[in-house]
Amino acid sequence: MSDKNNKSKITPEEANLQKIISHAKEYGFVFPSSEIYDGLQAVYDYAQNGVELKNNLKNVWWKAMTMLHENIVGIDAAIFMHPTTWKASGHIDSFNDPMVDNKDSKKRYRADVLIENRAEEIRKEDKENNQKESQEIAQTLVQKMADFLTAENMEGLKNLLIEEKITCPVSKTSNWTDVRQFNLMFSTQMGAVAEESETIYLRPETAQGIFVNFLNVQKTGRGTSMKIPFGIAQIGKAFRNEIVARQFIFRMREFEQMEMQYFVRPNDQKEHFDYWKAKRHKFLLAIGIPAEKLRFHDHEKLAFYADAATDIEFEFPFGFKELEGIHSRTDYDLKQHQIFSKKKLQFFDEELKENYVPFVVETSIGADRLFLATMCNAYTEDIGKDANGEEKIRPFLKLHPALAPIKVAVFPLVKKDGLPEKAREVFELLRYDFNAIYEERGAIGKNYTRQDMLGTPFCVTIDHQTLEDGMVTIRHRDTTAQERVNISDVNGKISQAVSIKRILEKL
Ligand code: GAP
Repeated sequence: MSDKNNKSKITPEEANLQKIISHAKEYGFVFPSSEIYDGLQAVYDYAQNGVELKNNLKNVWWKAMTMLHENIVGIDAAIFMHPTTWKASGHIDSFNDPMVDNKDSKKRYRADVLIENRAEEIRKEDKENNQKESQEIAQTLVQKMADFLTAENMEGLKNLLIEEKITCPVSKTSNWTDVRQFNLMFSTQMGAVAEESETIYLRPETAQGIFVNFLNVQKTGRGTSMKIPFGIAQIGKAFRNEIVARQFIFRMREFEQMEMQYFVRPNDQKEHFDYWKAKRHKFLLAIGIPAEKLRFHDHEKLAFYADAATDIEFEFPFGFKELEGIHSRTDYDLKQHQIFSKKKLQFFDEELKENYVPFVVETSIGADRLFLATMCNAYTEDIGKDANGEEKIRPFLKLHPALAPIKVAVFPLVKKDGLPEKAREVFELLRYDFNAIYEERGAIGKNYTRQDMLGTPFCVTIDHQTLEDGMVTIRHRDTTAQERVNISDVNGKISQAVSIKRILEKL
């Protein structure tokens, strides 16, 4: 099939995602892992600009949690944990996804995702035909699926695929294998001697590192013990052997989570759940995501130990999808660890004069999903003018200045007449405060364009006039407006705009 024909089959949504993927690669944000060996499915590397953006996102999340809340502290637990952790948490027995293969295309799918997609199609039909029944049909379908999943009835799921005439998007047939449960945890061996080695797991969530440290942190806190309610925050890698890993860095096998477990009094969880729902939404708005690109999706079907759960969904190019989860997990995790470790994981509440196992409300967001949401949201195409005054599309990354990988780029207008030396002087004034770059190659217009693509909020140009009056041109990314500023004022002007405080103050 010709390339042209192939292209015509790409949906506008796929084209939009493709734009982000190409941009991320071309401008040094994200590369496929081990690309010289053709990559490794669903594993990616953050490149020179990507790592800066990701670090900035992690930094603002960390500060929002630990600096703005006197009762939240951060930890960094090890990825490897005692294997019993995963028995206690339920991951060994039930961290499974239902997997199914299409015999004709040989493609593998998650049966629940195929059924959910079918339900979504039915709901869309509802909008088009204005038929109320479709909504109910979709709801019944999802409910049936949820019941089969809870009962671990894989045969029921397979029958549902066939009854609903759900077909493989590639082969268009319903020639399905049996549905099998597939555990998502990666395992490895610890210990040098094979016979004595023990199977351990790469953590599938960071949360358990927090639960097992609950008592240690509670007792030590910030110098004195912590009183309920208090929270423990953590950023770290997690690993899941996802059955279907598509959509770039949305679903990866190695990814990073930013989680916070908030320990509260039993029966107070609803109040804290509502607080964190609002707080996390506010955070996403503060980093520049507009309200219309976010929505809550309250879970109707809850995990057996949870009493409330919601997802904050972001409108990715492939539709509204989960960005962050907020879960009220009751006292399930601590109680399980209490049973398996035989250690009391309780809190003595001075006010109530009572010992209890605290309830937990958690907020959990993928750093990579936040990165993708930020990139998708920032990618902007404005109509600009080229050197001849002709209209042309001007793509740029409209990142919040505090998140931008590079804050300022410094250029001499020409590579002679003492301008490079002066430009270097200006660069020296900036580089200790910001991630700044100096560039003397290429035409100024091209340099501006390149910095636009990286999301650099400011470019500073040194010209002949600078040598006489000590003024430079600051060019603003979003408007392309230019202003003359005294060299001694440049640092202050940029500092103000790129300060993380501008985000934190909104929380
Ligand atoms: N401790 C709760 C927990 O792990 P989760 O809903 O399974 O809950 C939380 O995951 C967040 O982690 C998700 O909202 C998503 O942002 C991120 N996440 C989960 N699986 C991921 C994957 N395979 N790739 C990238 N991010 C993932």
